[in-house]
Amino acid sequence: MIQELSYVGLASPRSEDWRDYGPNLLGAMLVADGPGGAVRLAVDDVDYRIEIHRAEADEFRYAGWGMANETDLHAYVDLLAGRGVDVHQGDQTLCREREVAELAWFSDPWGLRHELSWGKSATPNSFQPGRVMRGGFVTGDQGLGHVVFQVPDLVEANRFYADTLGFRLSDRIINDHFNIRFYHVNGRHHSLALAETPGHIGFNHLMLEYRHMDDLGRAIDLLARNDTEIVQTLGRHTNDLMTSVYIGSPSGLQIELGYGGLVVDDLSWVARTYRKPSYWGHRYTGNAMTKARGIIRSIA
Ligand SMILES: [Fe+2]
Repeated sequence: MIQELSYVGLASPRSEDWRDYGPNLLGAMLVADGPGGAVRLAVDDVDYRIEIHRAEADEFRYAGWGMANETDLHAYVDLLAGRGVDVHQGDQTLCREREVAELAWFSDPWGLRHELSWGKSATPNSFQPGRVMRGGFVTGDQGLGHVVFQVPDLVEANRFYADTLGFRLSDRIINDHFNIRFYHVNGRHHSLALAETPGHIGFNHLMLEYRHMDDLGRAIDLLARNDTEIVQTLGRHTNDLMTSVYIGSPSGLQIELGYGGLVVDDLSWVARTYRKPSYWGHRYTGNAMTKARGIIRSIA
């Protein structure tokens, strides 16, 4: 089974702006470019986990999911093929590019690309934060963070992501504005969430979690200097207990910067339904309401 969110890839006409945004605001480490001048960011001792390719338009390119080892990858690919998923083997060039030992990929029902891999390259004690930071990012056995996709049909999406792929439901938030399901693959409360937005598909946000509240506070202080907007004000979520702020990025994608997220025990976990997404805060700012929130496209 999938063990972690391992990496994500975007493409953007403003990929170059991430060279400043990544280290100086987020605190990530700018590392050597990928092929074609793609900007790469590390958030821990994995050599890179976030890649922004150059392109004419903002695009979600892929989410990379990490498997424990090659045995698990092979078994999982067989399982998915048996369940009717069209899984493709990644060639040597792609494996080298992603810095993994082995890779397979498939698309979800709306074309979002997911990659499965094991053996991603890492260098012990290599991570140096891009700006003053007290403690770096929560990764390790909780992976990179979480990704949230907008999907046109949550019933169909759940069938694919939960029933076919095996993402385990953490809980749901349902009210007049939201219909969202949250899924875990390790102790992190959710590595994936799916929000229903009929007629639309896309990448809403990537969440990165700081070890210390001070590093979240410092990011908020740095927003003005980096000319970055707050999309949702500081608040605390009801389900994963994350204290977080949602901010813009150079590429349409929102970044949720968090602290203090819940760790779940899968053996005893029972999925709940919440009405409110937040105990307090997480107010949309005036500006943010009028703009697309994420890299989203309409589908026929
Ligand atoms: Fe989130």
